[in-house]
Amino acid sequence: MRSTTRSSVDENAEAIAAWDGPLYDRFVRFRHIVAGGLGQHGDEALRLYPPEPGQRVLDIGCGFGDTTQRIAALVGPDGEAVGVDAAPRFIDTARREAAEAAIGNARFEVVDVQDKVPPGPFELAFSRFGTMFFANPVAAFRNVRQALAPGGRLVMVVWRRRIDNDCLYRAQMIVEQIVGRPEEYDEPTCGPGPFSMADADVTTDILRHAGFTEIVLHRCDLPIMIGADVEEAIDMMMALGPAGEILRLQGDRAVHLHDEVRQALRSRLAELVRNDGVLGAASTWIVGATPGG
Ligand SMILES: C[S@@+](CC[C@H](N)C(=O)[O-])C[C@H]1O[C@@H](n2cnc3c(N)ncnc32)[C@H](O)[C@@H]1O
Repeated sequence: MRSTTRSSVDENAEAIAAWDGPLYDRFVRFRHIVAGGLGQHGDEALRLYPPEPGQRVLDIGCGFGDTTQRIAALVGPDGEAVGVDAAPRFIDTARREAAEAAIGNARFEVVDVQDKVPPGPFELAFSRFGTMFFANPVAAFRNVRQALAPGGRLVMVVWRRRIDNDCLYRAQMIVEQIVGRPEEYDEPTCGPGPFSMADADVTTDILRHAGFTEIVLHRCDLPIMIGADVEEAIDMMMALGPAGEILRLQGDRAVHLHDEVRQALRSRLAELVRNDGVLGAASTWIVGATPGG
């Protein structure tokens, strides 16, 4: 079982194993929900900092490549969108779907951004929720900065603090109360976690240390659909996000508590039911930064 201190290289390798394994499977299962919710925050980032025709754009932690395809359309045939992700299974799917959609100016590479990024220069490095999981974020952002053209820009969407992402946070508290956090586990973890860049000062300092300047954080509050009904929202909360991560790491040891967790989540999520589904508050930072001198 893992519980001892490890280097950031080991931790990153472990996070990649998680993303390429159980988390990939879970993102496939809930893609229809996740893409819609995350999509609105990503769209707002692309509205604030639109890629221009002819630009080369890097999409960091591109997952299934939804945003890479979107960016490829915006930069047009004279531009290029390069999606990178550390998990080969995400990249396989991204490549296949872009080929099926006959998108000629998007390509994908398996890359651990903490290690390197494809050769630049890129006018824009974009990321929708793909930068919060680096064990050594300064090293990763330094790589990104070095690949940016002078006058280029980093634009990324990251979760703001837990308390303003009420549905994720309440689900986490429910699971923590009933199941507790594991001290030891066999499963790989997803890295520092979705809220690792929630603190504006910490995020600003990480980017400064990586050599970025003109760092601007825009707060973006847009509620997101977390399920067509309460049962789907419960399934998603128990599979993804901080609550899902605790349950995954607890594994079989917590299975006997799952019914109790479901019941507690049911009471909580019932308060969020609207006409078209279960709607949770969601708050992100859309971060813009330039690569400095
Ligand atoms: C929450 S998902 C977001 C995926 C996609 N950007 C989206 O919005 O649908 C985070 C992604 O970051 C990727 N990732 C995590 N660590 C990474 C690393 N060190 N280098 C590159 N990608 C990484 C994961 O494999 C995963 O696909």
